[in-house]
Amino acid sequence: MNRFENKIALITGSSQGIGAACALRLAKDGCDIILNGHKFDERGEKLIAEIQDMDRKATFLEADLSKAKEATKLITDAIAVFGHLDILVNNAGVEKKANFWQVTEEDYDLIMNTNLKGVFFSIQSFVNYCRKSKVAGTVINMSSVHEEIAFPHFAAYCASKGGLKMLTRNLASELARFNIRINNVAPGAVSTPINQDLLNNIEQLEKVLQNIPLKRMGKVEDVAAVVAFLASDDAAYVTGSTYFVDGGLTYHYEEQ
Ligand code: NAI
Repeated sequence: MNRFENKIALITGSSQGIGAACALRLAKDGCDIILNGHKFDERGEKLIAEIQDMDRKATFLEADLSKAKEATKLITDAIAVFGHLDILVNNAGVEKKANFWQVTEEDYDLIMNTNLKGVFFSIQSFVNYCRKSKVAGTVINMSSVHEEIAFPHFAAYCASKGGLKMLTRNLASELARFNIRINNVAPGAVSTPINQDLLNNIEQLEKVLQNIPLKRMGKVEDVAAVVAFLASDDAAYVTGSTYFVDGGLTYHYEEQ
């Protein structure tokens, strides 16, 4: 399928996990890809090779997205690589478990700066480019079911993803005049390195699965498929929404 002829996508935090799956899926559907992470390493090299094997172009740009200046520069660097940019997937994110009463300012800043501030300024930079170059850009933010439901001991993470929910709602209204669409994808429990502790703890995993109507963890490909849909013209009338990819977790009801 070539849903994305002549389209270029930047996926942040794409060395592994959901970001890597999004890169591979968008490439499979015809997109050229700009990968990103803190550091270019063998995972990035392997992904570039896989994407090139699909006859698509790929490169990797290093940037620390917890810093607004680097987030802004990443967009201008990405546009320079292949000459234009159509799709921005803000995937990079971090979480840290702590009792609310013990959260440090350092951890709070890391989470908010990565999950919300970096996203804010990367979108701003992308929007400035889209306006100037008359590009009908598309933004997909990797949110979480925790933009909607509570997650005790992850207060800063929930605050960041809750902020992302309203940022997307707000920008959908503000940016529609430029033909820019923006949506969130909200994964539930997905098997990635971020969930390694949970995956190693059978008892805890059983408890999590009890709350998921489809009774399994999500796969990175489940999330990437929805990102590809939202990035494509099939979603031309979709903006300001959140698509939950959670096996039914968010609004589940346990029949008695
Ligand atoms: P992951 O930890 O496997 O991958 C995240 C990637 O982002 C890593 O490659 C990391 O190096 C990169 N990253 C983190 N901070 C960065 C920064 N400042 N600059 C550049 N890159 C940075 O995580 P996963 O599971 O793939 O998560 C991706 C996104 O999906 C995150 O935003 C996360 O909050 C969200 N999510 C994940 C869920 C899950 O169950 N795995 C559930 C709900 C949301």
